[in-house]
Amino acid sequence: MIKKKKLVLYFSVYGTSKIIAEMIAKKTGADLVEIKPVKPYDSNREHYDALAAYAKQEHDKNLRPEILNEIDIDKYETIFIGYPMWWYTMPMIMYTFFDSYDLFGKTIVPFNAHMGSGDGGTYKTIRELEPNATILEGLPLEMSDIENHKIESHISEWLKKIS
Ligand SMILES: Cc1cc2nc3c(=O)[nH]c(=O)nc-3n(C[C@H](O)[C@H](O)[C@H](O)COP(=O)(O)O)c2cc1C
Repeated sequence: MIKKKKLVLYFSVYGTSKIIAEMIAKKTGADLVEIKPVKPYDSNREHYDALAAYAKQEHDKNLRPEILNEIDIDKYETIFIGYPMWWYTMPMIMYTFFDSYDLFGKTIVPFNAHMGSGDGGTYKTIRELEPNATILEGLPLEMSDIENHKIESHISEWLKKIS
């Protein structure tokens, strides 16, 4: 069940996870916070190959890219957490987040943007990383559906289901 004090936390480079995050925040009245990297990623889609190669290195080396902003999670009971699929898992900066913050007793609601991988098993990974949190059913959304404004009803139905 979604409890009262809500935060939507997201990481996004091309802006689609951000669109989902903003919609969830608007519909639920949650606060909205972006996970910002110390070293920004190239959001120019014409440079996709370079970003893909860079992200693959981070993944293969199991790196933990630094987060720039301090995120105040203490006052929240429910935290929606969103990210894009990168190399069949979460971007490594999400692992930085799960490593650095104590989510004991929190209710976590994952969501993600993707281009075919769905959640890629990441909701299960989050359950494994955070055994002391309650993880609700997540919502994977396809990039083109997000950009073609086809997601609002999906988000509404999902929110209704998990409320
Ligand atoms: C480095 C990189 C790796 C990606 N790997 C996957 C993947 O494994 N599976 C998938 O479905 N989509 C993959 N994608 C597509 C993104 O998940 C998709 O473009 C998403 O909408 C981007 O989210 P954002 O706009 O919030 O950054 C990848 C994109 C990038 C840039």
